[in-house]
Amino acid sequence: MRLLNLSIIFLLLFSCHSSQPVLKKQIDPYQYEINKKVIATNGAIASAHPLASKVGLMIMQNGGNAFDAVIATQLALAVVYPNAGNIGGGGFMVARLANGETISLDYREMAPGAAHRDMYLDDKGNVIPGLSTLGHLSAGVPGTVAGLFESMKYAKLPFEQLIAPAINLAEKGFVITDSEARGLNNLQPDLKKYNTVSNIFQKEHGWKAGDTLIQRELANTLKRIKDRGAAGFYEGETANLIVAEMKRGKGIISLEDLKNYKAKWRTPHSFTYRGYKVISMPMPSSGGVLLNQMLKMVEPFPLAQYGFHSPEALQLMVEVERRAYADRAEHLGDADFYNVPISVLVNESYLKQRMQDFKAGLASTSEDVKPGKIPMNGSEQTTHISVMDKNGNMVAVTTTLNNSYGSKTIVGGAGFLLNDEMDDFSAKPGVPNIYGALGGEANAIAPGKRMLSAMTPTLVLDNEKPFLVIGTPGGTTIITSVFQTIVNIIDFKLSTEEAVNKPKFHHQWYPDHVDVEPEFPQNARTALERMGYKINQRSPIGRTEVIRILKNGKMEAVADNRGDDSAAGY
Ligand code: DON
Repeated sequence: MRLLNLSIIFLLLFSCHSSQPVLKKQIDPYQYEINKKVIATNGAIASAHPLASKVGLMIMQNGGNAFDAVIATQLALAVVYPNAGNIGGGGFMVARLANGETISLDYREMAPGAAHRDMYLDDKGNVIPGLSTLGHLSAGVPGTVAGLFESMKYAKLPFEQLIAPAINLAEKGFVITDSEARGLNNLQPDLKKYNTVSNIFQKEHGWKAGDTLIQRELANTLKRIKDRGAAGFYEGETANLIVAEMKRGKGIISLEDLKNYKAKWRTPHSFTYRGYKVISMPMPSSGGVLLNQMLKMVEPFPLAQYGFHSPEALQLMVEVERRAYADRAEHLGDADFYNVPISVLVNESYLKQRMQDFKAGLASTSEDVKPGKIPMNGSEQTTHISVMDKNGNMVAVTTTLNNSYGSKTIVGGAGFLLNDEMDDFSAKPGVPNIYGALGGEANAIAPGKRMLSAMTPTLVLDNEKPFLVIGTPGGTTIITSVFQTIVNIIDFKLSTEEAVNKPKFHHQWYPDHVDVEPEFPQNARTALERMGYKINQRSPIGRTEVIRILKNGKMEAVADNRGDDSAAGY
């Protein structure tokens, strides 16, 4: 896709102040293309926005590694992809260093100190609609900036260089795509309702593709981060602006909450699937554990023999998804606060038992499939970036504001959107969140606790060698999309593009139906209906970004067709 070629084209130089060396690589924010597939030798990246992928690519071309690229790309996404790219949200990183070490970083938002388990209930104990998804009270304490600075441990370039492209894109502007224009136009009523001061996204006569979006307040916030590091966000002027916004809008994030926020290094959740090693995100994401459950539950079955989208394969995968999500609702929550029985949940004999009531050709019901019993002694909008560099560093980052444009609240004077991640907690047992997910005690709200996530940044190794970098947005469909993408590649031997773009399906225990994308084949749908499944056609599922390392050692980066997602490499 070619965007507007304006008569005045300015080239975005990497360095934004004169004391920094000006890098020769340039980005043209007025004219850029979306590339769905790139084969690269030295470094590859796929993200939700072409300008952001370009930033990551140029950082690698200028001597940066995959960590430098992912940091710069996240910062660029916070500017060019405001519906999910963020500094007001949180995320997870899973990475494998060139030396084989695997790491994961949790910069998930946390509940403010003044949060409490019933904060979204009225005096009759009912959930107040919208309170956990819109406006000031829906925001958790943002984690992204802390995460970026923790990730610097593995970066090579100075932070000033990594943030410079984002500052330039914010300060000088970039042209928006058609989908961004539509997103901003749909947002207008909420912008009026959930903001205390007017902001740059508001536009009386609407946005259109090719308009230039300039975000000066955001540029100033990014400059404070450049000058003061994480303290440029969690303390001083930015923190004061956040807290002033909270006070104006009856939010509860305090200066102390911001100052106390810490990103946490975690041990990745790793397991094997048909001889491949899968490395994914541990708690407080349910991603790694559920992906492990799903893959291990299908492993005893000859999926390849059944065939892609065959009734046998579809039914098996649906039933596996149902069982994993039943366990999620009951047993998963921030493991720093709740004793999550992880080792039992992924134990092979436990999973075999979970599948004992599976009947080929016949739908089970979610009423019958309860969460697994644990022995007492056991203990839509997000965005994903996949990167790999020439040294073999593999990095998968999924980051989110939760809903598209998060809480719809922009911090007055600071120009960035706050998340509505508090909705990922269980506001009340048995009451579904915005993705229909259920939860209970394990995921109840508590001060300082991190809400359960489905984000699943994942790496796959073949014979201990890099094979796949994967991840996607999509709320609860994230885990099933990553599950299906892996099975599509490993079992069904689909090309990377097919594995990413072929229609996906999703079951999450409740509601008891199979979600399918509009393009899901009619014959597969009929086959499932004959077995007793209720089918629900819904909007597209996921926007998966994959890097696959080919047999000849080249990197194939594929960006999902479902959005403006774009791949880059060299
Ligand atoms: O962390 C989670 O699981 C959700 N907040 C992710 C939200 C999401 O993927 C929305 N994107 N479509």
